[in-house]
Amino acid sequence: MKQIIDAIEKSAIEIKELIETGDTSKSENENSTGDTQLKLDIASDIIIERIFKEIPEIKQIVSEEQEEIIDVNENGKYLIAYDPLDGSSLVDVNLSVGSIFGIYENDFSGANIVASVYVVYGPRVELVISYENKVDMYRLQKGKFNFIHEIKLNEKGKLNAPGSTQNCWAPYHKELIDDIFKDGYRLRYSGGMVPDLHQILLKGGGLFSYPGTTDRPKGKLRQLFEVFPFAHVYENAGGQAIDGTQRVLEIPTEHIHDTSPCFFGSNNEINRVKEVYSKHA
Ligand code: AHG
Ligand code: MN
Ligand code: MN
Repeated sequence: MKQIIDAIEKSAIEIKELIETGDTSKSENENSTGDTQLKLDIASDIIIERIFKEIPEIKQIVSEEQEEIIDVNENGKYLIAYDPLDGSSLVDVNLSVGSIFGIYENDFSGANIVASVYVVYGPRVELVISYENKVDMYRLQKGKFNFIHEIKLNEKGKLNAPGSTQNCWAPYHKELIDDIFKDGYRLRYSGGMVPDLHQILLKGGGLFSYPGTTDRPKGKLRQLFEVFPFAHVYENAGGQAIDGTQRVLEIPTEHIHDTSPCFFGSNNEINRVKEVYSKHA
């Protein structure tokens, strides 16, 4: 695992430099989910693939930006699924973005995720590792990632981050979100799941939701690259990650680019979601 963490740190430093100097325009390509790729998405993907291909511990990799799984080392132990530059369309307005890595054993499935790492590129670059019942945060300082502190969620928070298009929400979802605001929660949603989920983790708790909607019944966020890695982080930090009624990590994955509705948060808020969604499942 150490080799993998070192490789992620190395790629994060290169991606930080790419973000600072790179071209924010669109490419002419679409990825498997049908998003137009930015030149930054493609360049970040190339950086990570190049660095991961040098690591003997890695058996296979798969990227949000690529169609297929890539074989790296037959005798490697770990499989890594990654979103090289999450929220990339926010770089041109200078909001925070991130990279997300899910580390799996045996196959790419929620049940087999063993660790996850994400990097936030904001005013500071921070890296969070969820592994062996701990979530630890590091910060890039003078070219090195230094340990800052462990991350733990409170039982109940104050922030609400409701994703997707509101006019496509189910009426019960709208009611749930409205009720949460009526209880005094504050809106915190940038459109980048990495900084939005990082904020909830560091401010002690709250709810981030990306539900199934009339235009996207299975949500937008991808299981292997986005949902499962953050589920590992949230569960390990003492919170929960569900699709409305069940743990997202128990959802079977049919295709590597499958998406899933998802709710991440501290226990109190997730229990509220379960109460509402269990009546409508
Ligand atoms: P990506 O840039 O990798 O395509 O992902 C963006 C994602 C995620 O970061 C964010 O939470 C979500 O898209 C925002 O979607 P909406 O604007 O539909 O809420
Ligand atoms: Mn993404
Ligand atoms: Mn992406």
